[in-house]
Amino acid sequence: MQDTRNSEPNGATARPPLRPLTLAVPKGRILKVLAPLLRQAGISADCLLTEDRRLVRENEDQSMRFLLLKPDDVPTYVEYGSADLGVVGRDTLLERNYELYQPVDLRVGACRMVVAAPMGAVIPTVPRVATKYPRIAQKYFASRGMQAEVIFVQGSVELAPVTGLADLIVDLVETGTTLRENGLEERELICPISSLLVANRSLFKLHHERIAPLVDGLRRAVEQNAR
Ligand code: PRP
Repeated sequence: MQDTRNSEPNGATARPPLRPLTLAVPKGRILKVLAPLLRQAGISADCLLTEDRRLVRENEDQSMRFLLLKPDDVPTYVEYGSADLGVVGRDTLLERNYELYQPVDLRVGACRMVVAAPMGAVIPTVPRVATKYPRIAQKYFASRGMQAEVIFVQGSVELAPVTGLADLIVDLVETGTTLRENGLEERELICPISSLLVANRSLFKLHHERIAPLVDGLRRAVEQNAR
């Protein structure tokens, strides 16, 4: 008997099933707001909310595969094409140069990049500035015509002025609790930050028929939530 498993009724070979689109997402608290937003855009994403250690997850209808990554690694996976799409903070995009298409500001993970100092402190003419974002800091102080010595630290940035390592910090502020609890105050706003949908430029063109409706759905969901 003829094996018809991989054949269409007219004898033509059936196409292989479409591969799921791959979306790289940052691990952590942002998934709690990202999953509902994806659902609103018609993408089932409940698998992002399960508490387990799987770094690759596929959604129920197998239309989408998610890679759970450290936030700073998301753009790298998208740029090299290991993921079609990604969700990245504007802070990461401003700090490093990526060749990525940025079709939608998802307006989740909202916070702000600020300059902060110890409460009431007088700042020297050429301050030392501790930050995880040396490029953003350099650019900001240059744009203000100010000289500054920028010191790179990996995290717990608020500790730098407390210990005398720096006079100022440039860092993200969400609720302001970390600044307050370490005796610091916000001095200047550099820019608002949120998470963006990014896409690999070639894959965006190659899979445009499948990616464009997803992008439109997310754009509509974001607009609805802004009303
Ligand atoms: C971020 C940021 C601030 C804090 C701001 O740090 O760098 O330290 O959150 O949040 P808040 O205004 O709500 O207090 P994160 O928790 O990512 O850890 P890190 O200091 O190790 O970077």
